[in-house]
Amino acid sequence: MNTSCKAEVDASTDRTSRPIGPHLLSIIDYDRADLEHILDLADAFEEVSRRRTPVPALSGKTIAWLFSEDSTRTRLSFEIAAKRLSAVTVNFTVKSSSMNKGESLLDTVETLEAMGVDGIVVRHACPGVPLQISQWVENASVVNGGDGCHEHPTQALNDLHTARSRLGSVNGAHVAFVGDIRHSRVAGSGVHAFSAMGANVTLVAPVPLLPNSLAGWPVAVTHDFDSVLDDIDICYMVRTQSERQAEACVPSLGELRAEYGLTTARADRLPENALIMHPGPMNRGVELDGEVADRPNAVVTTQVASGVPVRMAVLFLLLGSESGFDISKALDVVAA
Ligand code: ASP
Ligand code: CP
Repeated sequence: MNTSCKAEVDASTDRTSRPIGPHLLSIIDYDRADLEHILDLADAFEEVSRRRTPVPALSGKTIAWLFSEDSTRTRLSFEIAAKRLSAVTVNFTVKSSSMNKGESLLDTVETLEAMGVDGIVVRHACPGVPLQISQWVENASVVNGGDGCHEHPTQALNDLHTARSRLGSVNGAHVAFVGDIRHSRVAGSGVHAFSAMGANVTLVAPVPLLPNSLAGWPVAVTHDFDSVLDDIDICYMVRTQSERQAEACVPSLGELRAEYGLTTARADRLPENALIMHPGPMNRGVELDGEVADRPNAVVTTQVASGVPVRMAVLFLLLGSESGFDISKALDVVAA
């Protein structure tokens, strides 16, 4: 198993022609101004989205989901986002495709492009597959919907959107990512996203659940969750990724909960206004207690809600630049 995937994938892109495009592969490709631009646009699309009536921002565009791993939030929120922008969406799951008859990924991508697909949102168990597909396509834009234990860039955008709306700004905030950092693509993107926005990030995990190398990661590290509890503005719990843990030396779920779980007792020690975040799906009673997940400062469902306007902004920036759609006019219509 490749356990150092976070450091090995070079996901740099050519971003000359469109503000965030032509593809969205890695959060590392974006600086603070880029991220703020996307988040501001997401704020505007939040207003549009509330109306529920589709706007013609992506009329004539077709977007396919190429998912080889299960998903509830990412796939559905991309689908809702695309539909609210009037794009046509193509439901494509690897499990029910001709890949089961031996068709290669390359041939599958060429097949999608031959049918005129403009955008492909990819989730794959192997790190680097969205990057590989972006190098195969001729015209389509590729979005990374999560690649192995490497990155999940639109999740990081959702998280920034939620944190910014609750705190005003994350600049100077202390963000702790807690748990199975090594196998978490959410942490792989989130650490860099929060850091780019001016937050101070601490990783809280046992050695076996940290990446092999933290070179280039702007983080502090502690193995003692209790020692940082009263100094955290955002306590970001990540799921134990049992499906990716091949190593024999990882702690058991019971050991993890005892040392790194956000139990009721630990949550009581967080500062009063600290946010509790989790990307979902949650394992209640493992990385956090069920009661903690339902507290008013736990913003898990707000993170999900952010997914629709954030993904509207992403799809519009990648695919809608020539549509002539004017968001400010759409907002005038909403306000009228
Ligand atoms: N849903 C997120 C992901 O696909 C987080 C998780 O599964 O724990 O990476
Ligand atoms: N947070 C997240 O990516 O959820 P899904 O795996 O359900 O898409």
